[in-house]
Amino acid sequence: MCGIVGYVGRSEAGPILLDGLRRLEYRGYDSAGVAIMDGDRVETRKCAGRIAELGKLMTEKPPVGTYGISHTRWATHGKPTDQNAHPHFDGSGKLALVHNGVIENYQALKEDLLREGEHIFASETDTEVLAHLIGSLYDASAPANGYVPPQNEKSRLVAAVRAALQQVIGTYGIALVHRDIPDFIVGARRGSPLVLGVGKEENFLASDVSAIVAYTRDAVYLNDFDVVAVERDKFEISSVAGEGGNYEVSKVEFTDEDIKKGDYPHYMLKEIFEQAGSVRDAMRGRLSTDECTAKLGGLDMTAAQLRDVGRIVLTGCGTALHAAMIGEYILEQLAGIPTEVEFASEFRHRNTPMTRDTLVFAISQSGETADTLGALRESRRKGYRTLGICNNVASTIARESDGGVYMHAGPEIGVAATKSFTSQVTILLLIGLLLGRMRHLSTSEGSHIIGALEALPDQIEQTLKLSDEIRGIARKYAASPGMLFFGRQFNFPIGLEAALKVKEITYLFSEGHPSAELKHGIIALVRPELPSVFITPDDAVFSKNLNNMEQVKARKGPIIAVTSGACGDRLRGIANDVITIPSAPAFVTPILSVIPLQLLAYHLAVELGRDVDKPRNLAKSVTVE
Ligand code: M6R
Repeated sequence: MCGIVGYVGRSEAGPILLDGLRRLEYRGYDSAGVAIMDGDRVETRKCAGRIAELGKLMTEKPPVGTYGISHTRWATHGKPTDQNAHPHFDGSGKLALVHNGVIENYQALKEDLLREGEHIFASETDTEVLAHLIGSLYDASAPANGYVPPQNEKSRLVAAVRAALQQVIGTYGIALVHRDIPDFIVGARRGSPLVLGVGKEENFLASDVSAIVAYTRDAVYLNDFDVVAVERDKFEISSVAGEGGNYEVSKVEFTDEDIKKGDYPHYMLKEIFEQAGSVRDAMRGRLSTDECTAKLGGLDMTAAQLRDVGRIVLTGCGTALHAAMIGEYILEQLAGIPTEVEFASEFRHRNTPMTRDTLVFAISQSGETADTLGALRESRRKGYRTLGICNNVASTIARESDGGVYMHAGPEIGVAATKSFTSQVTILLLIGLLLGRMRHLSTSEGSHIIGALEALPDQIEQTLKLSDEIRGIARKYAASPGMLFFGRQFNFPIGLEAALKVKEITYLFSEGHPSAELKHGIIALVRPELPSVFITPDDAVFSKNLNNMEQVKARKGPIIAVTSGACGDRLRGIANDVITIPSAPAFVTPILSVIPLQLLAYHLAVELGRDVDKPRNLAKSVTVE
């Protein structure tokens, strides 16, 4: 949801900013721009379209200078045009600003500025209003005449930023430069991530460390309401209210190599193929074969507290919500704890009746999703213990929750979530095992679950070998108008997840449903051109699924079945295409059954010539409501 990169140092800023933007392109790709300072000139290049377009502009006319700011946009206010592309300038044309987030009261602020009479706005964005506001506060604080030492100008600019942000309602991650103050960048955040990269005689600002990890692995993850003044060889963190800020310099846990695509044509395919390793990493050091349970120290709860949990709420958005839906089946089956799944966006705004013994889990790959963060804050505000299941270790959700479990899946760059999903389900299985073993699960049941978990990485490897076969199926159905997905129990949410993957990256209509809902209305859609995909492994509801498939077949609807074990034979003659995954207990099967469907969506998208890693209208991390 927009990406920001800032640089101040001794190298040319242009290539560093452009490289950073390329790495942040997953956050938004409607338009992009840079402002680089060269002596008393501000060099701006910006345009609608991808970073590649900006790259062309910067090659034609390279901006010169050793400090600057840059931005890749996911449009909120105003269309993705050249005018609306960031950076935006204040009234004097000297202050350039990039922004990630939404200034909710920008209309009111704009009207106030217009009443002052000297402001002309060139764009439709909320960001430009903020630039004008900061600029006018800065200009108003200038002494009537006389020399102003540079140090005072820096303090005045920081003070203007603080004063402006005190008037802002909404979210922001910002970076700004001023033509009159060389080698100086100011950043601030509230609700949108911003990290300071600490280098040697150079410092960086970025929405995500992946933009700067090639230059430094020392990072300060800024907190909400932090304002940072960055120079080549120092930085100072304070708060919007003007107090001194607390910070710690951390080591980024991955390297530049980890975020390269390698030989894969797309990040999504790379990440699908990483799942044996990422699931293994989610379990690493967390299984106790002696006690037949899981060890999750990050939950930060005593055994007594864990035993007292009477109800669980799982919340998240998109793919994370689908993982939560599988979590509901897992936690109720393994631990016998009543569990509910809440859309984070709904949960945060409604008054869900909760009991005091309720434990809330906020599930989020990025740990920055605005709705999930809102749900977390709301549930903490009401006094419930709230834990995070996150991939991004330094994320806001990870930092603001009472404890949690990290996924350790490594960076996920493809906009379509894949490996984070299987890691989330793996962690929910670990939580189910832990809570179950504190209740009714016997040692032999615990040991059976551990055995099933330990077998998973090899079974994932086997499942990935189906990729070529699935590519053939994708080719066969690429001209279809869409796809329906059906599953039951643990595999019902897999139908939802598969449908989300297909719609996100192929733009084909697709829906997921519990198989039995077919006859309650969806069957009206069934026709020869529209394939139905049944996720029907060898489990207790296989024969029920079989009945539903017969209903589709009777209406000449083509059927693709994802099944396991010997069930494949029973499907010949009913399903047009059968994909067979390894047999596994029902509670771990979703980790395997989702993989052929991730591959199906991927191969369909490639077949249709879609931009797999950067599908239209989407961004990886949704930091606005
Ligand atoms: O970072 P999060 O897990 O909180 O993201 C939640 C959703 O925005 C995300 O899963 C989205 O639905 C994906 N693009 C799905 O592939």
